[in-house]
Parts: sequence; C-alpha cells; structure tokens
Amino acid sequence: MSVVLVTGGAGFIGANFVHFLRRQRPEWQIINLDLLTYAGNPENLAGLEEDPRHILVQGDVADPALVASLFSRYPITRVVHFAAETHVDRSIMDPGVFVRTNVLGTYTLLEAARHAWQGLKAEEPRFLHISTDEVYGSLGPQDPAFTEKTPYSPNSPYAASKAGADLLVRSYFRTYGFPALITNCSNNYGPYQFPEKLIPFALSQALAGKPVPIYGAGTNIRDWIYVEDHCRGALLVLEQGRPGETYNLGGRQEKPNLELVRLLLKLLREMRPELGHPEELITFVTDRPGHDWRYALNTAKIEGELGWRPQVDLEEGLRRTLSWYLGHQDWLERVRSGAYRDYLQRQYGAAVV
Ligand code: NAD
Ligand code: TYD
Repeated sequence: MSVVLVTGGAGFIGANFVHFLRRQRPEWQIINLDLLTYAGNPENLAGLEEDPRHILVQGDVADPALVASLFSRYPITRVVHFAAETHVDRSIMDPGVFVRTNVLGTYTLLEAARHAWQGLKAEEPRFLHISTDEVYGSLGPQDPAFTEKTPYSPNSPYAASKAGADLLVRSYFRTYGFPALITNCSNNYGPYQFPEKLIPFALSQALAGKPVPIYGAGTNIRDWIYVEDHCRGALLVLEQGRPGETYNLGGRQEKPNLELVRLLLKLLREMRPELGHPEELITFVTDRPGHDWRYALNTAKIEGELGWRPQVDLEEGLRRTLSWYLGHQDWLERVRSGAYRDYLQRQYGAAVV
C-alpha cells in the first residue's frame, strides 16, 4: 500500500485530485496537509470524513517541525505538492505570503522528504511538484506555444514565486538525485474552484445579477483545461514520469477572455432561462498591471512519452462546471461571505461588489 502526502488537498485542484485518487487508487493512504486558508475548504472533501484512508491535517507546509513529523509518523513514499497561494491579483496586492508559502513552503517540504527518503530502498519514492504555465511568461499572437525548454520569464509575483519553487525542485534532482518531477499546467476550471478566479467569479456574479468585470478589452488569451484532465495527467506523471523531468499539461483550448465569458453566460442562459440575458452584465474594467497577454502550452512531450491527452472539450467542461455550481449554490453562498467580501471591495470597488 502506498502512502501519499497531498499538500493543499482542500483547495480547488487538490480536492479534485483527492477525490480522483480515492476512485483510481482506493488502496492508497492519503495524508492531506492543508493550512485551510481562505482558499482551503473542508467542505470540498465532503464524503471523506469517515474514510480511514484519508487523513486531513490542518497545518503549514512551511512549518519544518510539522512536516518532518508527518514523514516520521507515516511511511510516506509519494508526495503531490499542490499547496500554494495561487491568485495573481492577490499576489499584486500582497506578494510576501506568496514568497513564504510557494518558495519557503516548497523548500521545507523538499528538505523533509530528502531527509526521510535517504537510504530508502523498499519502494522508489517520488515527489511531484505541481506548477503552472505562468512561469514561462507571456506569448504574442504568432509565438509558438511554450515547451518544457522555454526559458522561465515570470511576470507576476505569483508566477515568480512558482518559478522560484520550480527551480529549487530542479536543483534537488541535479544536486541530490532527489526523485522530483514537475508538471506545468494551464488554466484549470471545474468544481470547487474558489470564486475569485475568472470562470466561477463570472458565474457567481451573473447568478447574483451583478456586473461581470473583464480586464482591459478582454482580448487576453488563456488555455483552459478541465480539472479532471489535470488530475489524470498528474497521477500519470507521478507513477510513470521520469524523475528530473518536467511535463507540460495543457487543454489545447485557447480562448480570449471575452469570448470565454460570453460562452459561459450563453450556456448559463440555456440552463437557467429565468436569468434573462446575463451577457448584459459584462463590464470592462481597468486592466491588471503586468497582465500576461497569452498562454499556450505545447504538450507533445507528455502525449508522446505517456500517452496523455485532454479528454474534455471546453463546452462540455463548462456545462459540467455550471451544473456543479448550480447544484451547490449553498457552497457558493458560504464561500462568498466573510473576508472574501473585503477582498472584492479592494480589488473591484463598490460598483462591482
Ligand atoms: P487554491 O488556491 O484553490 O488552493 C490552494 C490550497 O493550498 C488551499 O487549500 C490552501 O488552504 C492551501 N494552502 C495555502 N497555503 C498553504 C500553506 N502554507 N500550507 C498548507 N496549505 C496551504 O489553488 P489551486 O487552484 O487548487 O492550485 C493548486 C496548485 O496548482 C498550485 O500549486 C497552483 O500553483 C497550481 N496550478 C493551478 C492552476 C489553476 O488554474 N488553478 C493552474 C496550474 C497550476
Ligand atoms: P484568473 O482566473 O485570475 O487566472 P490567471 O490570471 O492565473 O490566468 O484570470 C484568467 C484571465 O481572466 C486573466 O487574463 C485575467 C482575466 N480576468 C478578468 O478579465 N476579470 C476578472 O475579474 C478576473 C478574476 C480575471
């Protein structure tokens, strides 16, 4: 039986991964380390409360004593490291916590695993570090998509902190022969995503009949991947990837933001005709500083080596996402209350909130 440490497993992708792992590898023991920040929510793990194969530990990945104690208490041979501060706009307001969690947290985890795994022979351990395409910087309209060899050129404090973490992970492989792998993934969407991110934010604003803010002219392009495709890719890399390697995971579905939001609101109108014309709520607001223009990923490496391909197309993924949120409006209401409202005020001002 494998014991896997999942960090950030109460957040959006981490919680999806924990549920996915439960279905795909029911015999694995999951230790889920999550600080339960504003983005971490035990409700995302509903159904696992009584499951002896899932243990939620509330704590900080940057706490060396706590992290070391998990490695001595449990025979952990797999790590999947999702825990991070993840929202670009928050990183512009308050970069310090991004450096602390993303860089120092990753370093703390690497050190604990490196010491715990010294001399381990029974099972080959593996450490999967989950990262983002944002470390590569921004593309122009005619540029080829990022490959694993594209030099890092991060533009936001979030992207820079993830890039720093990635480089540390890489150095542990080079220096210590530490069994690390990295995935760089494009923009995810799906159930449990905190509604500060574009898709669930636009949806929750539309459901509340409030403005749906689009930065700049809405021409910035992102490559969207349904979260389950990411989870499948992460497990594949964890089990079959080559240590020391990086794999890009992308949805191969590039869309300008305005087109994406229009599609989302069209699908919402089809599912909830009583909402009238939610596309009329679209409002153009001041652009994000340093806003990356376009992300796109070349995924030939993982397709060729491991046979992974995204399976859920954008419209199908958006329908599934909408169904989930429409069926979990109580979740959305609870998440939208409290400190999150203060963040919205600071970010968008009273006109949007
Ligand atoms: P999220 O913000 O929804 O969740 C992050 C989780 O990490 C939360 O549960 C939070 O409580 C936890 N956390 C934060 N600080 C912590 C700390 N110090 N110690 C322990 N836990 C802590 O993020 P997400 O969107 O699920 O992203 C997960 C990972 O995937 C991140 O590493 C992110 O960089 C990466 N990623 C995200 C996307 C995306 O589109 N969301 C794309 C590519 C890569
Ligand atoms: P976001 O979901 O924050 O992801 P990221 O910045 O990590 O790509 O934003 C996705 C895109 O949507 C990005 O180009 C910024 C834009 N955006 C808006 O236009 N309005 C918004 O209110 C938000 C949150 C994002």
